[in-house]
Amino acid sequence: MFITLEGPEGSGKTSAVKYAVEQLEKMGYQIVQTREPGGTPIAEQIRNVILDKNNKAMDPRTEALLYAASRRQHLVEKVWPSLKEGKIVICDRFLDSSLAYQGGARGLGIDEVLQINLFATENTWPDLTLLFDLDPEIGLARIEANSMREVNRLDLENIKFHRLVRNTFLDLANRYPNRFVIIDASKSRKEVGEETLKVILDRLCKSNSI
Ligand code: TMP
Repeated sequence: MFITLEGPEGSGKTSAVKYAVEQLEKMGYQIVQTREPGGTPIAEQIRNVILDKNNKAMDPRTEALLYAASRRQHLVEKVWPSLKEGKIVICDRFLDSSLAYQGGARGLGIDEVLQINLFATENTWPDLTLLFDLDPEIGLARIEANSMREVNRLDLENIKFHRLVRNTFLDLANRYPNRFVIIDASKSRKEVGEETLKVILDRLCKSNSI
């Protein structure tokens, strides 16, 4: 099973999934936890180029292509082999982030960004996508309060950009209702962690009973 985590900045998806993965591993599931952009040495190098705060001149299409390039390398080296071995892959961000950030917020168009990504992914879609939905003002305030988290080039975009990201994610959840589950990320860390675990377990049970 291929599970992806999506949401605006500061939505707490990383800590929620940490809790869920700990519990799933205790139950005996074999999990590969990974992230985008990055997840393999080459893809992490691409990540550094994309997120470098000094790369202010980066063109939106260049940005979209670099995310797709990182995604391709990550699929080839890590995601596809792990799925082939029967493991559950949980990926912090994937294709929907490109659709929301580059397609929606940057204004390149969802279908245009989808096209370049289908070339990169050869039509690989997640089985389940958890959308950690949160008002971007709350998310950005959380990032500011967390001195441990490094601020990246996209965090520096204005609030209008981040509102567009959130709204595009919600549109995507409407467009792909069988794949998306929305989690209210404004709740406490404990509640979000427990909800995340519940949603994943429900989906695992359903897929086992098919
Ligand atoms: P994160 O690892 O802290 O979530 O940072 C990754 C950043 O890159 C975040 O701002 C979301 C952004 N992003 C895109 O704009 N498009 C993408 O396809 C992906 C995977 C991430």
